[in-house]
Amino acid sequence: MDLKVMLKKDMKEKQELVNIILDRYLPRKDEYPKSLHKAMRYSLFAGGKRLRPYLTMLTYQMYKKDPEDITPVAAAIEMIHTYTLIHDDLPDIDDDDYRRGKKSCHVLFGEGEALLAGDALLVNAFELITYANISPDLKVRFVRELAHACGISGTIAGQMVDIESEGKKVSKKTLAYIHENKTAKLINICLRFGALAAGAPAKEVAALEDYGNHLGLVFQIVDDLLDIEGNPTTLGKSTGKDAEAGKATFPAVWGVEESRTQAVELTQKAKDSLAPLGEKAALLKELADSMLNRKS
Ligand code: IPE
Ligand code: IPE
Ligand code: MG
Ligand code: MG
Ligand code: MG
Repeated sequence: MDLKVMLKKDMKEKQELVNIILDRYLPRKDEYPKSLHKAMRYSLFAGGKRLRPYLTMLTYQMYKKDPEDITPVAAAIEMIHTYTLIHDDLPDIDDDDYRRGKKSCHVLFGEGEALLAGDALLVNAFELITYANISPDLKVRFVRELAHACGISGTIAGQMVDIESEGKKVSKKTLAYIHENKTAKLINICLRFGALAAGAPAKEVAALEDYGNHLGLVFQIVDDLLDIEGNPTTLGKSTGKDAEAGKATFPAVWGVEESRTQAVELTQKAKDSLAPLGEKAALLKELADSMLNRKS
């Protein structure tokens, strides 16, 4: 089978596994207090590529393991990612009315509700990790490392510098800080968790992390480019918002053409990082190309 077709099929299959775990874990939408559970489910099941959980499950499976062992960890990361999106769209952050092809959480449910639905997704993600079929030691390690990657040493710090930089001319160093922290660290940890849970050799864990860092950066550069060149219907979110808000994006600092060139180069570096893994990394290589060329 063609690698592109294989990747698409594999993503769909694993997406379904993640959705089953999320559906099983979350309270029904008519459970008290209804508005909380409705808002959480609305945003979580609005669509989305499920890239992050896929990275964890694919990496784990590369070592001939059953991806279902690790699905709760993967699903927990998707809960955290979804919380970042809900909060990112709030009027005091990016003020976006559309997300995943639908109205943003706060537009439909109200700002307080969206804030709390995001909080709940974040907090309960850590509970979900403890249900995975992995050793207790590994669970503790994952909880600690995930808090590190999405908290004050990762996503939240990146988001803070992102909003503080609005309307300012930022240095290349600050731009790199924003992208690494708000996006790349969470993407990177998805690969790391898959590899650690599978007991991958240290050299391969390091190679996967190298890949993850490059992929994470490319992912945000492409997101920035899509805000300029993308189609809002295909993307499922508004475009033109970054320039309007004076955001510190790759195209704003480097220009569109140079951003694209860097994305292409970093994608190649990501794929080169996988050399120590040999043939088993074929789908990860294909995934890097598909993320570079994505339209949504
Ligand atoms: C959007 O992430 C936010 C960024 C980090 C750029 P995704 O593009 O993965 O969003 P979904 O999950 O597919 O909606
Ligand atoms: C958001 O970056 C990254 C996080 C949500 C952590 P953006 O603000 O560019 O993401 P979109 O474009 O709204 O999805
Ligand atoms: Mg933002
Ligand atoms: Mg945004
Ligand atoms: Mg964006």
